[in-house]
Amino acid sequence: MSKLNIAVLGYGHLGKWHCQKVEACDESNLFAIVEPFEANKKIAKENHPNAKIVDDINEVINDIDAGVIVTPTSTHFELSKYLLENNKHIFCEKPLCSNMEQVNELKPLIKKDKVFQVGHSERCHKVWDLLSADFNAIEGAALLDLNRVAEFKGRATDVDVVQDLMIHDLDLVFYNFKKELVKIKAFGHKIRTDKWDHVTAILEFSDGSMAKVTSGRNHVKEIRSMEVMSDNGCIYVDLFENSYSIGSKGEAIDGEFVKKQSYEKRDHLLIEHQNFYQTILGKQDVMVSFDDGAKIVGLIDNVLESLETNKEILF
Ligand SMILES: NC(=O)c1ccc[n+]([C@@H]2O[C@H](COP(=O)([O-])OP(=O)(O)OC[C@H]3O[C@@H](n4cnc5c(N)ncnc54)[C@H](O)[C@@H]3O)[C@@H](O)[C@H]2O)c1
Repeated sequence: MSKLNIAVLGYGHLGKWHCQKVEACDESNLFAIVEPFEANKKIAKENHPNAKIVDDINEVINDIDAGVIVTPTSTHFELSKYLLENNKHIFCEKPLCSNMEQVNELKPLIKKDKVFQVGHSERCHKVWDLLSADFNAIEGAALLDLNRVAEFKGRATDVDVVQDLMIHDLDLVFYNFKKELVKIKAFGHKIRTDKWDHVTAILEFSDGSMAKVTSGRNHVKEIRSMEVMSDNGCIYVDLFENSYSIGSKGEAIDGEFVKKQSYEKRDHLLIEHQNFYQTILGKQDVMVSFDDGAKIVGLIDNVLESLETNKEILF
């Protein structure tokens, strides 16, 4: 079987890992790395001597089957548009685009016979498979509390914390719970940058459920968690230490009312690459589609609008 020729666009913090995964999959060949920044280009050449290292995607566009976009968010729209216009499969890191205006301009260019995958990698945690039956069993309103905060690391300050971190949890809410959104209200602080550094969004749903989603990059400790409280009890997921605890309403087991378990840590990026190539080959369905990515860009716009206007957004 001939391999799919892949260009990775952007050899920065995350691009390096994407290149490794392209090389790790049987179906793909790292044909090119597109990187305009000299220092990163030099490292790319050293680490991937068999790949073409170029400044611009147009230098290799006729030689590739697919492009993997791992560049700053502000470039995702232009690069996706160029790849779509040239009939390529695309794996674009999150966020899909900077805003809904760009998403709406890309949408008519989507081809039925080409794969467009978006990098919402947090869906790859094994815990969502393990807990889906418990989540589905919840009747009535639930209170979801998601936190993703860390000390300042100086990364991704070109965007608000909403596009950088909250995007993961907005996606996880709708991935795990099929609920109809009726209202969003957001509160935030610009602490260290001229962008929103710490934001809490309150989402209200038609069945009376609520989700409180907090993301911050100027916190005093590192937390990545989801708590689900309902009439069935409490489920707490620690995405940082890969564990979950269930305090159900059932009898104690071995004298304990709380069951805590670890779950296997998986290579999310590798899973995403495997899915991308299997989808191109027609053997799987895309795990995060263009429409999934678009929905979250819309929610980000809503959160930012609420922050800027200090008003609720109603649906
Ligand atoms: N899924 C996740 O969990 C996750 C984690 C981190 C980053 N990301 C996303 O990945 C993307 C990249 O993040 P990063 O931290 O690697 O950024 P980075 O700034 O470290 O790297 C981006 C690289 O792209 C290069 N670049 C800029 N314009 C380019 C162009 N037109 N063509 C080719 N290369 C270009 C830059 O020179 C740089 O080397 C962002 O969109 C970010 O949101 C996703």
